Amino acid sequence: MHLLEISDLVVAHDPRTLERLPVRRDEIVARLTAAGDRRGARIAAGLVCDGDGVLDPYAVDRRLVAVHTELQRLSEELRIGDRIAELLRPILAAVRTADPTSPLRVVDVGCGLGYLVRRLAASGVLAPDGTADAVDLVGVDFNAALVDEADRLARDENLPCRFVRGDAFVLDEPATVYISTGVLHHFPAPDLDGFFAAQAAAGAAAFCHYDIAATGLAPIGAHIFHRARMRDPLGRHDGVVSARRAHDDATLLRAAAHAEGMVPLVYEPRGRSNPFCTTLRPVIGVRPALLPALREALGRGASGRLVGERELR
Ligand SMILES: C[S@@+](CC[C@H](N)C(=O)[O-])C[C@H]1O[C@@H](n2cnc3c(N)ncnc32)[C@H](O)[C@@H]1O
Repeated sequence: MHLLEISDLVVAHDPRTLERLPVRRDEIVARLTAAGDRRGARIAAGLVCDGDGVLDPYAVDRRLVAVHTELQRLSEELRIGDRIAELLRPILAAVRTADPTSPLRVVDVGCGLGYLVRRLAASGVLAPDGTADAVDLVGVDFNAALVDEADRLARDENLPCRFVRGDAFVLDEPATVYISTGVLHHFPAPDLDGFFAAQAAAGAAAFCHYDIAATGLAPIGAHIFHRARMRDPLGRHDGVVSARRAHDDATLLRAAAHAEGMVPLVYEPRGRSNPFCTTLRPVIGVRPALLPALREALGRGASGRLVGERELR
């Protein structure tokens, strides 16, 4: 069965100009029905549209901001900010070892409401001297409503970070390290090759993309967690579909191998981790020259959890 998330269907953009395109409700309902997703089709049939059957863009935006606000609660609970910082700090330390003067920029691709970037900015956890602005923090998303809200929340707290609109496959924002959370499963496996390749071509030192670990328990865990923490049926629906369509480690490693000049690795691969604890884990790409310093910065225990395709087999 082809798995579809409603949030992917309700917004359409011109990939070149990012101009918003009209979306017909009956087409979404038809796609979900054809995919055998009757529950999703029922949720989509309740979306607000005008007399011509075109979705009301303002209602869609309000709904997506509400769903992402609920998603932020999950991220807080799963300590996403702290977990990604545990890997980002050693990655940035390795870059600093190679070139102590190089300016550092972390770009969160598909940042949604920008919780991760805002959390990193607020904590200052990435700066060796504790000052957040030593690392330039940027969130990128193609959804204007989410970017505007991320920006508003950051300004509300006077945080040293910024948010811009952009497509994950175009990468107008150069980065030392590209990161993401909960985004990879939105892309079909064949598109991942280009996603990782673009980051290497853009000159990044590394990337570190966290997504749902494709364990047998993931859909059950997602069901329980999203029921407990999310009220919106659309968010609950998409949360479970996300877990069902998460890419497995081998797929991610094969795709990350398309990042030319980088070593593809996964941290805490499925076969070696506790499925009850490993909800999200990252695929990483790193320039080979940085790998020894990264392993050293991680320490012996954590470094052993970083594996490539050969060790995975
Ligand atoms: C499940 S949400 C995750 C949001 C955020 N990273 C988080 O963890 O809360 C996926 C995000 O990816 C964005 N997205 C999907 N495809 C994208 C693309 N091609 N370019 C930029 N953003 C994209 C969506 O707009 C959405 O905000």
